[in-house]
Amino acid sequence: MHSQAPDVGAPSLLEALRTGTALLHVALEKRLPFFSDDLNADWYQRLLQAYYGFYQPMEAALYDCDLIPEGFDRVLRVKTPTLLNDLYALGLSETTVKALPRCTELPTLETPAACLGALYVLEGATLGGQVLRREMAQRLGIDARNGGAFLDIYGAETGRRWKDFLDYLGRMPLDAHARQHAVDAARSTFSCFEQWLDSQEVLL
Ligand code: HEM
Repeated sequence: MHSQAPDVGAPSLLEALRTGTALLHVALEKRLPFFSDDLNADWYQRLLQAYYGFYQPMEAALYDCDLIPEGFDRVLRVKTPTLLNDLYALGLSETTVKALPRCTELPTLETPAACLGALYVLEGATLGGQVLRREMAQRLGIDARNGGAFLDIYGAETGRRWKDFLDYLGRMPLDAHARQHAVDAARSTFSCFEQWLDSQEVLL
């Protein structure tokens, strides 16, 4: 990792990540069907299958590359097992889950900074999950016990875990070059996810 003196006056890593991904977030949010009148149980299940098809290889790539800077608690934050349990709760068998398509066009994770950028996206998504959890409960009767645990993955700890993650990001001594790697990876995580969901025909 680049660890030269931080440039005074340059945007912080978090600011750079926010600025770099804000439009991509808005664009994806608009295409996700959670608030669509046409969303039904079948579409929700296909959507969750597609989420699994992205998160499973994405988290595996992140954890296998061994480049995540120290201080990130993967046991606490891993999300694929929860998605898997949701799929089982929705009635999918182990065989069906194994056969689900998985995304192969993933962001390049060749530096610790790139891992931080990708993690920012996956951790930030838990914030929106809180909004979506309420919506799915109201509209489809889906909660943490019958296929909606992923949307509420950190439950009452959501705010605290996000703050802890931001503190972790804030401790990373990235120079401008590394910061750019982080932003590129975060942007790429958004676009790979959107393209994958699109290919699975679950977006509006
Ligand atoms: C319809 C779907 C979504 C809704 C309604 C939604 C909504 C939200 C909300 C309300 C926040 C918190 C903003 C704040 O507290 O300032 C947030 C933050 C965030 N969301 Fe989403 N979101 C959605 C989907 C996603 C997805 C699919 C991803 C990525 C895979 C994502 C990534 C993020 C990130 C990275 C942040 C953190 C932004 C920051 O404060 O730095 N969101 N979202």
